[in-house]
Amino acid sequence: MPIAKDPRAHTALSQGGRSAASGAGLSVNPPVVRMSTVLFDSLASLREAEELRAQSERSLTYAANGNPTAFALEDLINELEGAHGTCLYPTGLNAVGQMFQAFLRPGQHVLITEAVYPPVRRLARTLLTAFDIEFDYYAADGSDIEALIKPNTRMIYAEVPGSQTFALCDLPALARLCKTRELLLAVDNSWGSGVLFKPLELGADISLMALTKYVAGHSDVMMGSVSTTQAHFETLKTMQIAMGSTVSPDDAYLVLRGARSLAARLAMHERNALQVAQWLQAQPQVAQVMYPALPEHPGHALWQRDFHGCNGLLSFEFNSDAAGTTDRFVSALQLFGIGYSWGGFESLVSEVYLFTDGRSRQVLRLQIGLENPNDLIADLQAGFGHL
Ligand SMILES: Cc1ncc(COP(=O)(O)O)c(C=O)c1O
Repeated sequence: MPIAKDPRAHTALSQGGRSAASGAGLSVNPPVVRMSTVLFDSLASLREAEELRAQSERSLTYAANGNPTAFALEDLINELEGAHGTCLYPTGLNAVGQMFQAFLRPGQHVLITEAVYPPVRRLARTLLTAFDIEFDYYAADGSDIEALIKPNTRMIYAEVPGSQTFALCDLPALARLCKTRELLLAVDNSWGSGVLFKPLELGADISLMALTKYVAGHSDVMMGSVSTTQAHFETLKTMQIAMGSTVSPDDAYLVLRGARSLAARLAMHERNALQVAQWLQAQPQVAQVMYPALPEHPGHALWQRDFHGCNGLLSFEFNSDAAGTTDRFVSALQLFGIGYSWGGFESLVSEVYLFTDGRSRQVLRLQIGLENPNDLIADLQAGFGHL
């Protein structure tokens, strides 16, 4: 099982986020500490706590700065990402926006991968444009990036693999380029979820995740994280405190609880998805299956070199673009919920439009869940029967 390439994650997921400082000790899991006001013994101890907080040290003065349950989750994410510090946000998309706000200034320029999760394009159009921050898109494999770097470029934003296209880029090469040009490298690591991919270890400065997906894993809570190195943590934390961004202890508890089984779930998602992907490849109605663990995938060699395994996400394209093909197929499925998102225990189907060579292609994206893969294959077989 490729996941065994990173055995540290398994132990970290069981042991992490359980320090007495985060409120754990009596119970296995840290308690849900619901709070707004923090009470102090004296004005002197309040001032002491304020002083620490002003230095971006973890210090609880008021719950807009966090809460002990969220601190426990931050500790766990730090271990997974190999980070100095992590900030939590109410959604994954909000984490991207807050990260841009923390590190980019008017007049600067950011290069964003064409493979990006599409709402980040809307974020760029609205937030970045409103603050006079320029942006351009680079090819998902990074091939045109050097030519696109401008004197005011401050950041390269990657998503590896693209969660819709599964396109990969050579992240260590991108990190080397960023170091020589003094650029920040930020990576959306939702696909790797801190177990399958380690952007900070490969040279990135910032790694962010939609914890909503595999880390929480149960489709019942939303959250985002931004993790970074010692050099950049203060910048991130200062903006988070200034914005009053925090997450509820109940949500932090749900994410932390879900995360305990993350590595085990990912191994099963991978096994199931690989079986489904190989079966789909053999179907005459299928033109192409996109899944990085398949040897035919264009980024397969990079995936083998840089990743510790694959998850349950795959896409496939029909041979026929006859009207109604996709709708007929999906309406026959019984075990795949129709809806956005991925990373939960359940199987989902959604349609995705890929733009390549000036044309748009419709593909179906499957999140292969923890069901019996033979049942999922039988369901998909019924879908093909309806074409
Ligand atoms: C790759 C990726 N990044 C970020 C997000 C945003 O996460 P959230 O849904 O928690 O806002 C998503 C959501 O689908 C995603 O697929």
